[in-house]
Amino acid sequence: MDPRANAPSSIIEWTEAEKYQNSFLIHEEDNTLEFILNNSVAHGLPSHMPVSAGEGKFLNLLIKCLGVKRVLEVGTLGGYSAIWMAKAIPEDGQLVTLELNDTYAQVAKENIKQAGFEARCQVIVGPAHKTLTNMQPDIPFDLVFIDADKKSYPAYFREAKRLVKKGGVIIVDNVIRYGNVHDKAVNDENTVGIRKLLADLKEDSRKGEIEATTIPTVGEKGFDGFLYAIRK
Ligand code: DHB
Ligand code: MG
Repeated sequence: MDPRANAPSSIIEWTEAEKYQNSFLIHEEDNTLEFILNNSVAHGLPSHMPVSAGEGKFLNLLIKCLGVKRVLEVGTLGGYSAIWMAKAIPEDGQLVTLELNDTYAQVAKENIKQAGFEARCQVIVGPAHKTLTNMQPDIPFDLVFIDADKKSYPAYFREAKRLVKKGGVIIVDNVIRYGNVHDKAVNDENTVGIRKLLADLKEDSRKGEIEATTIPTVGEKGFDGFLYAIRK
């Protein structure tokens, strides 16, 4: 049978499919991550925005297999992805995460503390573009994860290229957005931002600066995608 004949087409079915996978593969020994999601919602943070558990674990595994010590995150929200990543970096590693919203940042700090990663995580509050522009780290970052307002993705990616080491990785969340990005009828500023990022990447690739690919994702967060880029 062609497996596509039975393709699920709703977020409910996608969520079930993802839950099934997670039931075999994701067993955190403590319930910190669950606490963090609940604590974030209790403080009024949006529940549809954090990465899924599977995506969080993907970032975690990537950090382990690449030996990443220094992570930069754009878009902290409640710190859920930051904590998945912080779990994988060594004790002398560092994660810097940028958040515009002061309430989100306070909740993230509380969550990071609760998870026990206060020492290796720094939350910087303010407009990320400004923070990024002012950053001049002595040691470049090994990995950058961009998951913030989509309209600024081209600017964030430009700064990420400057701040990541040669051979380092830049991951960008939400580059498909339910198929909105390729639908020319959709022209809100966030969708346009992602489209512009893709156009910039074409140029970066032509210049030999970046190699990238999109991994489409489908599950409890809907139909979306992770962009995976390497700075050459
Ligand atoms: C939205 C933002 C995200 O980063 C995400 O993963 C899902 C949704 C949003 O702005 O709605
Ligand atoms: Mg996202």
